[in-house]
Amino acid sequence: MARKVNLYAFVNPFVRVPFIGACTIWIILQICKVIFFELSGRSYLGETLQTVTTAPLWGVAVLSAEFLVPFLFLFFANKIFVINSQNLSIQINEGMRQVKETQSISVIGFTRLAEARDPDSGDHIIRVANYSKVLAERLSQKGKYTKYVTPRYIEEIFISAPLHDIGKVGIKDEILLKEGKLTDQEFEIMKMHTIIGGNIIAELERKLNFRSFFTLGKEIAYHHHQKYNGKGYPNIFKGGIMLVEEGVGSPLQGDAIPLSARIVALADVYDALVSKRCYKKAFSHETACEIIAAERSEHFDPVVVDAFLTLNDEFISIRRKFNK
Ligand SMILES: [Fe+2]
Repeated sequence: MARKVNLYAFVNPFVRVPFIGACTIWIILQICKVIFFELSGRSYLGETLQTVTTAPLWGVAVLSAEFLVPFLFLFFANKIFVINSQNLSIQINEGMRQVKETQSISVIGFTRLAEARDPDSGDHIIRVANYSKVLAERLSQKGKYTKYVTPRYIEEIFISAPLHDIGKVGIKDEILLKEGKLTDQEFEIMKMHTIIGGNIIAELERKLNFRSFFTLGKEIAYHHHQKYNGKGYPNIFKGGIMLVEEGVGSPLQGDAIPLSARIVALADVYDALVSKRCYKKAFSHETACEIIAAERSEHFDPVVVDAFLTLNDEFISIRRKFNK
């Protein structure tokens, strides 16, 4: 097995600086000693060589005390420092992993509360998170988003995608659980889940003074029902806030819709298509692909659709893995 190189220990200034600093001080002291000897009219090197030639054992002892012992001391002190640093690095990485996992599990638990009211959803949020992740990974490998979709972006979309329907907590049971078609008025109320969810996450985002997954979470909650052709919802901008009411502002469409929301929009619809609902049977993966491909540049971003059409195995495998 290849040995792992701990770059943290190598580049960490708290490890290297004391060692290099101590070596520098020691070299300066040696130079000072030579200068002192020279100023006193004596030759440091000459006297040292003379000691070695006239009394070899004593000379070796003097040289060892002068060079070997300080070097070995610094060498082993540095080793101990590196080992401590590696342990610290392992502890920090483990702590960060635990924080990220806690964050991810908390978000899923949080959204499960909203989903608990909807018996149809099952592991919908887990699947949407995983579909979104593989789509983002593919966009990071090829095409115009390779620089935009960073590893951090992929991590954040995976954590925040489950929040897309969090706003459903604010929708009445009569509408949320209604079997059959919603009336126009009920549908207008249902649309509010995007605003409710987006506003909740936007408030959480404002409370943090640093960039977090809430930024993508907010974009996704607000815009996951936006269509690429501008016919989705909520489609109205007023004073920087999205509103559902008609006749105010202009539709949000195309690349103006955040990429995170364009990704989750496809993942969300795909999962709805291949899942059984009380009002419909589950479509096959192939049928879902045909429906989504037909909506290229209409409902969905063409770039995201193209990425999706290269991910058959990944989508089928996620569907099988998280299918309650
Ligand atoms: Fe939704």
